[in-house]
Amino acid sequence: HEESHGPEAGYSFDGPFGKWDLAQLQRGYQVYKEVCAACHSLNYVAIRDLEELGYSEAQVKAEAASYMVPGVNPDTGEAELRQALPTDYFPSPYPNDVAAAAANGGKIPPDLSLMTKARHHGSDYMYNLLVGYQEPPAELAEQFPDFAIPAGGYYNPYFASLVIGMPPPLTTEGQVTYADGTDATISQMSQDVSAFLTWTAEPKLIERKATGWPVLGFLLFATILAWLAKKQIWAAAK
Ligand code: HEM
Repeated sequence: HEESHGPEAGYSFDGPFGKWDLAQLQRGYQVYKEVCAACHSLNYVAIRDLEELGYSEAQVKAEAASYMVPGVNPDTGEAELRQALPTDYFPSPYPNDVAAAAANGGKIPPDLSLMTKARHHGSDYMYNLLVGYQEPPAELAEQFPDFAIPAGGYYNPYFASLVIGMPPPLTTEGQVTYADGTDATISQMSQDVSAFLTWTAEPKLIERKATGWPVLGFLLFATILAWLAKKQIWAAAK
């Protein structure tokens, strides 16, 4: 229905001929890193996977070095944080769920790796959720006089329970300074990070779609061949 519509111009990966827009995925990664990663992990994505977005090996090494992951001190055997390697997975910003809940008014920020697949029309849902924070409509208070936004909650009509425990993460134009110079409007940032999180959830989306065309071509070829064979076999029986 109406509310499952996403960004106005749609996504580059929509439809049977869809393609990733690598520049967009890089911008989306930048939004994830500079904004979302403060609260959300990306535990099913390896840092080296960024090479698929067009980053060089050296850039990926540098990215890895900007994250800390749980490790062990080789001399003492004690647990400690170490710099991540490209083979590590994007870490959680919190040591455990208790710490995550404590820092977020009792709500645990979920891992975002598969979020766009976990939700119906996930890429559009993510975009709408990010741009959809608003004042609760007056009718709500009229119909339900006892309705009140609980402390630490934010009204968002796209969230299933209407009140989400996530403060609006993208609130100001230019919150991120894009490396490629794109204007960082709230809509742009929301679209870019949703595209990036679509890629994390299904990195082979484009290959999967593209596989269909050679299959159709083969089927067409096989059909023509079968028809020609049939004609030849029955040619004498006229
Ligand atoms: C939940 C995305 C930044 C805290 C969520 C959900 C999504 C999301 C998709 C889950 C909605 C669902 O379950 O359907 C993002 C994105 C961010 C971002 C894309 C960056 C642009 C943040 C930040 C914080 C945060 C910076 C912490 C200050 C939370 C919390 C929840 C949540 C606590 C759980 C809310 C609840 O269950 O009520 N986020 N988030 N998020 N996020 Fe974020």
